[in-house]
Amino acid sequence: MLVLGIETSCDETGVAVYDTDRGLQAHALHSQVDMHADYGGVVPELASRDHIRRAPRLIRQTLAEAGLELDDLDAVAYTRGPGLAGALLVGASLASGLAMALGIPAIGVHHLEGHLLSPMLVEPRPEYPFVALLASGGHTQLMRVDGVGRYELLGETQDDAAGEAFDKTAQLLGLGYPGGPAVAQLAQRGDAYRYRLPRPMLNSGNLDFSFAGLKTAVLTLVRKEGPAAAADIAAAFQVAAVDVLAEKSLAALKASSLKRLVVAGGVGANRELRARLDGEANRHGFTVFYPPLDLCTDNGAMIAYAGALRLAEGLTDGAFGVRPRWDLAELAPAA
Ligand code: KG4
Ligand code: ZN
Repeated sequence: MLVLGIETSCDETGVAVYDTDRGLQAHALHSQVDMHADYGGVVPELASRDHIRRAPRLIRQTLAEAGLELDDLDAVAYTRGPGLAGALLVGASLASGLAMALGIPAIGVHHLEGHLLSPMLVEPRPEYPFVALLASGGHTQLMRVDGVGRYELLGETQDDAAGEAFDKTAQLLGLGYPGGPAVAQLAQRGDAYRYRLPRPMLNSGNLDFSFAGLKTAVLTLVRKEGPAAAADIAAAFQVAAVDVLAEKSLAALKASSLKRLVVAGGVGANRELRARLDGEANRHGFTVFYPPLDLCTDNGAMIAYAGALRLAEGLTDGAFGVRPRWDLAELAPAA
């Protein structure tokens, strides 16, 4: 079965074709980063308009790359939520219109389900059940995953998401948007142990996170030490954020007696986080799975893939619509 995937929840237009027999056939992405950079963050109305401009061309390009015609498709998957309402509507309308014209199903996919299943796009694939650390710009959650649509929330952030903390730290250090890769790059030149930043909720005894206090601590430090200390501050921030993410992931594995950890979402591209988790995995005898680096941040491949899995398991509902706010744990379990 051939599934076209369309992702338009935020500031990247992603399109891909996934073949259930042969894997990912092609994917294309247009990032709006340059367009939003002048504003220091995503401007929702500009995002929607740009998705409209880019998506049809990306669909043609992706199909051509895969050597396919629209008629070859068996389903069209799109991101139903969570995300920016207007941006989501672009993908939902396009996908539903295409599907209706072709007489095939349109599948609304949860964006975080896409992230969560994306490590299964490559070998070796994690077997169920596993613990998933989802760390993106809008979410930081630990989930227990027992199968497609069977997600149990173990813990989540009480305030800012990890990616948001990276983005705000970047802003405070004058690095612009998006912040994660910029902070990570600057941190490479810094001394992570010159300053010690707080690890909020590290010892909270549960699997929840908090990143707002860390951001405030960065602000205080930047004011006190000035721009000359930027690299050391970036490194101190990164090591604190990574420490919390890694320790809570370990605690989640222990609490659920599982030996497989899946890391997904934009922050999952962070090299320090990967190095730390790989080290812990060796020490504690568990396995970590990541999506390929280019599929950590938003993309159409994860949506095509999640759509294909849902189609295969009969877990689709044809309703048209978007869900700008939508908890992953709300997804109906397989009957
Ligand atoms: O998953 P994603 O592309 O979009 C959302 O669904 O939010 O995640 C974007 C987030 C941004 O906050 C970005 O700063 C962060 O992921 N990010 C990183 C890195 N690459 C992206 N954070 C830390 N290190 C990175 N290398
Ligand atoms: Zn995302």
